[in-house]
Amino acid sequence: MSKDKVWSGRFSEPVDALVKRYTASVNFDKRLAEFDIQGSLAHASMLAAQNIISNEDLASIKSGMAEILDEIRAGKFEWLLDLEDVHLNIEKRLTDKVGDAGKRLHTARSRNDQVATDVRLWLRASVDDILDLIKKLQLSILDLAEQHAGTVMPGFTHLQVAQPVTFGHHLMAYFEMLKRDAGRLQDCRKRINQLPLGAAALAGSGYPVDRELVAKTLGFDGVCENSLDAVSDRDFAIEFTAAAALIMTHLSRFSEELILWSSPRFGFVDIADRYCTGSSIMPQKKNPDVPELVRGKTGRVNGNLVALLTLMKGQPLAYNKDNQEDKEPLFDTVDTLLDTLTIYADMLRGIKVNKEAMRSAVLEGFATATDLADYLVKKGVPFRDAHEVVAKAVHHAEAKGCDLADLKLEELHKFSKLVEKDVYAILTPEGSLATRRHIGGTAPEQVKKAIAKARKNLG
Ligand code: ARG
Repeated sequence: MSKDKVWSGRFSEPVDALVKRYTASVNFDKRLAEFDIQGSLAHASMLAAQNIISNEDLASIKSGMAEILDEIRAGKFEWLLDLEDVHLNIEKRLTDKVGDAGKRLHTARSRNDQVATDVRLWLRASVDDILDLIKKLQLSILDLAEQHAGTVMPGFTHLQVAQPVTFGHHLMAYFEMLKRDAGRLQDCRKRINQLPLGAAALAGSGYPVDRELVAKTLGFDGVCENSLDAVSDRDFAIEFTAAAALIMTHLSRFSEELILWSSPRFGFVDIADRYCTGSSIMPQKKNPDVPELVRGKTGRVNGNLVALLTLMKGQPLAYNKDNQEDKEPLFDTVDTLLDTLTIYADMLRGIKVNKEAMRSAVLEGFATATDLADYLVKKGVPFRDAHEVVAKAVHHAEAKGCDLADLKLEELHKFSKLVEKDVYAILTPEGSLATRRHIGGTAPEQVKKAIAKARKNLG
């Protein structure tokens, strides 16, 4: 097989060896191969339908591409650095197999609209895989939340015990984040799913191309409406990576909590051994490596987002070779996300919850102080005054080293005469939870309702 560059005719000396390696992308863009073939077949069918190439040429292209696809899938395709990228490798192989028909494939097309099409097809499939995995993770969250709809734990603000919540309610906060994450991806998918082919190098094609036909064949929702924009902008990839960075950010926050909660100081949860490692020096250690790496890999995805934004910002219209640098950050983002989501869904299924540790943590932080203030408000005390009364009662309990619920009625009367025996019902964590029955509240029956609704909407 000849290794001459398809564009070598204009040049009087061969490319420097380092430059060849520097400019080649085949080592990473061969990953687009199946989508490149899919795009080429749709393009060739359109060329034949428009009588730009013959039906015989189309048949040869189809049979040649089928063989190439088999070779690639079997790992037998020989990728050559000399042929620069995935597109030229496949085209050259096709021409070696079917002759002139292979050389006609590139009529009315440029690698500029070809690569933009391949990346969109690849990213569309990746988004669909990611959406499936988000759903699986959401199901894991729902299952765990259901078991703990009534498990009391401290809710925190400033990482200080604030008010009692249920563990199920806390978990459902992450369900909501992932719901919005999925929505962002579905929205971004619409803008990914537009066809660049037909834009050719930048100015469109002089042949009577039928772009709508190609879009339909490839399952695109429509065609990119401006040829210069079609070959040059990668905003769809940036948008996707921004959505990915948010998913990772949410999982990073969740990871931070799992790391804290699994430390003996909290002791709220135990992460299954298969997600942890030991220390080479300290025999007692069980380290939460997986959540730590999720937190760490968030930095890498955020970095990919910045890389893509920076890649785009100085480019004049239309296509520039800079865009070849879009692939590695994009591939890395998708790979990181697929692994992270898969691992997370399973890791949550292996979480053991220490309900006693959660409950005793609530009792340590005067978590029902707000409930006592609300109790006084219901008896006619203005909220600001009630706040002050309760602050004094907390101060007193703290000095005594007990919880508000441990103070006798006579002691509470020192702060307000309005307090009666029924106050003890709301001074317990369960009493506090039970009052928060509105949509979005943490009362166990409300949490159960939220879980049921979420399960139904997830389908
Ligand atoms: N490998 C190139 C890329 O990823 C394909 C397009 C090359 N176009 C060109 N005019 N050199 O962007």
